[in-house]
Amino acid sequence: MLVMLRSTYEDMSRAAADIVTERLRRKPDMVLGLATGSTPLGLYKELIRRHIQEGLDFSKVTTFNLDEYVGLPPSHDQSYHYFMKESLFDHVNLDPRHTHVPMGMAPDVEAFCEWYEQRIREKGGVDLQILGIGGNGHIAFNEPGSSLGSRTRIKTLTERTIKDNARFFANPEEVPRLAITMGIGTIMEARELIILANGEKKADAVKAAVEGPVTAMMPASIVQMHRKAYFIVDEAAASKLSPEHIEELTGRPYAQPALHH
Ligand code: PGA
Repeated sequence: MLVMLRSTYEDMSRAAADIVTERLRRKPDMVLGLATGSTPLGLYKELIRRHIQEGLDFSKVTTFNLDEYVGLPPSHDQSYHYFMKESLFDHVNLDPRHTHVPMGMAPDVEAFCEWYEQRIREKGGVDLQILGIGGNGHIAFNEPGSSLGSRTRIKTLTERTIKDNARFFANPEEVPRLAITMGIGTIMEARELIILANGEKKADAVKAAVEGPVTAMMPASIVQMHRKAYFIVDEAAASKLSPEHIEELTGRPYAQPALHH
């Protein structure tokens, strides 16, 4: 795992965009794994800019998203289908036939999950998977305690995640309790991982994931076992890493960044 420490959210997003761009230029028909949430928005904005200004070409790319709420139709403005359309799909030249987001309205969820796994395999597997990290250390909707070998399936969200996500809904009661998510085993099969974290709210999870033991109670810690993972963090998210570790990452004596409360 390579930890990349960047000063700001924008720098973090650009560092991730640089990796995606390089891989895409090398393999125009790459399979890209995508994440939702506020964290990857800067990355998507930068990819859109590069598409428009520099001709970055997504026409042959296939995408697979990590997760979707159960029970929300793609037209719901809090569904991850909707989020992806608004944040990326509508602004680059991805072929809609090549984009995949789990179907939250699937009549047979189990059959759908099997199909999703099979579809990933048919496409040759995910080349590069983008991930965020939850305040509780989840990756996708693999909440603490999820099996480290899990596959795509239905999961119950923890109270913490429901609370974290309530900010996007008019009424907290509307936050779905269930989601379809790629499993940790599914995610670990991607050839490369980029895991992004910014802001002080992620500092505890980043420390535990990067410096703590590998444990199902901190799903993001499994990234330590991946052969090619880039953990890209801004200064606030890195602020709880050990001073020695930060010095190693920056090559500078450690100075506590000024944090805003
Ligand atoms: P966020 O969510 O990007 O909105 O902070 C990350 C996550 O829960 O995985």
